[in-house]
Amino acid sequence: MSKPAETAGFMSMRGGGYYSKATVGAKHVIDNAAELILEAIDRMAPPDDGSTFTVADMGCADGGTSIDTVGKILKELRHRLPSRPLRMVYTDLPRNDFSQLFRNIHGQTDLETYIDEIDDLHVYASATSFHRPIFPAGSLNLGFSATASHYISENPGPISNHVHMVGAKGAERHAYVEQGRRDWEQRLLNRASDLAPGGRLALFNFGIDEEGRYLGSTGGVDMFNTFNELWSELRNEGVITTEEYVNTNFPQSYRTVDQFTAPFRDETNPVHRAGLRMEHVETRVVECPFAADFIKHGDSIRFAREYIPTLRSWSEATFASELSANRPIEERQTIIDRFYDSYEARVRVAPEGHAMDYVHCYLIITKVTD
Ligand SMILES: C[S@@+](CC[C@H](N)C(=O)[O-])C[C@H]1O[C@@H](n2cnc3c(N)ncnc32)[C@H](O)[C@@H]1O
Repeated sequence: MSKPAETAGFMSMRGGGYYSKATVGAKHVIDNAAELILEAIDRMAPPDDGSTFTVADMGCADGGTSIDTVGKILKELRHRLPSRPLRMVYTDLPRNDFSQLFRNIHGQTDLETYIDEIDDLHVYASATSFHRPIFPAGSLNLGFSATASHYISENPGPISNHVHMVGAKGAERHAYVEQGRRDWEQRLLNRASDLAPGGRLALFNFGIDEEGRYLGSTGGVDMFNTFNELWSELRNEGVITTEEYVNTNFPQSYRTVDQFTAPFRDETNPVHRAGLRMEHVETRVVECPFAADFIKHGDSIRFAREYIPTLRSWSEATFASELSANRPIEERQTIIDRFYDSYEARVRVAPEGHAMDYVHCYLIITKVTD
C-alpha cells in the first residue's frame, strides 16, 4: 500500500529540453499574463537606490516556458533601475534538469534568450523546495511561479479508485484537499519570510475555477479519467500489479479559488499576520494549442502524435516512479511506452473532446511594510 511519502525525491519534468518544447501551452499561460507582473512592478515602484534587486522563478523546470516573460521583466527593471544590479534566481527540485536550464538561459540551445541584452544581470539557481524558505529573510523583491503550486510536499495516502485527487472520493479526497491547504499556507509563510517589504509575488496556479473546471477537463473527454482508465486496463491485463496501480497518485492538490484566497481573507490567519496581502485574483482558461491546431488541420494522426508529448512531459515521472524497483529498467520503460501509446491510439481513433486546456488561478500578492 501507499505510504505518506515526500514527493521531492522523485518529482521532475522530463529533461533534455523535452519539457519546454512539448509544453507550449504552459508558455502561453505565462506570456499571456506578463502584464499582471509588469503592473505589479509599477505598483511596487522600487527605488533606484543601487542595492541588488532579486527576482525568482520558482518551479522553473528548464526555464524555456518563462524565458520571454522573464526577459521582459528584467528589461523593465533594468530600464527603471539603472543603478541596481539584477539577480535572477531559478529554483526547482534537485532532480530538475538544471544543466538544460543554464544552456537555455546562456544561449546554448535554439531558444532566444535575454542574457546578452541586459547589463549587470547575474543568473543563479537554487534546488531548495518551495515548501521551504529559499532566500535570506527579506531579500526577495519579486517572486514568480507558474504552474507549480499544485505539487504537494507529501502524498497523504492512497487513492484506491483513481490516479489523481480530482477523481478521489470521500476521506481519500479530503486528505489531498487538506494537504493542499496546509502546503499552501506554509508555502505562503515561506514566501513571506523570503520577501522584502513591499515585494511582490506573482503566482499562476493550476486549480479549479468557479465553474469546477481544471486541467484537461474542459474538452469533453477528461484527461485524468483517461489516464486512470488506461492505467487500470494495464492492471486488469496483469501488466502492472494492484499495488502499483493503487500507489500511483499524482503528488498534486488542485485548490479552488476560495481555498487559494482563504488565508488572505482571514485576519487571524498566520499568512495575513505575516504581512501578505492579495492585490489581484482571477481565473483564466488557456486553450490547448494542439487541440486548437487539430480544429484547423483535422488530421487525427497528427493531433495524437503532437498531443501526447505535452501530457508525457509532466506525467511520466509519476507513472514511472510507482512501478516496482524489482522490475528491470527496460521492462519499466516498455510499460510506460505502452501506456502512452495506448493514450495516443485512443486520441487517433476518437480525437473529439481530447484537449489539455489550462485552468489557472492568477494571484498577485504583496508584503506590507508595517
Ligand atoms: C508543470 S512544471 C511548470 C514549469 C514552469 N514553471 C512552467 O510554468 O512551465 C512544475 C515544476 O514545478 C517543480 N516543482 C514541483 N514541486 C516543487 C517544489 N516543491 N519546489 C520547487 N519546484 C517544484 C517541478 O519540478 C517542475 O519543474
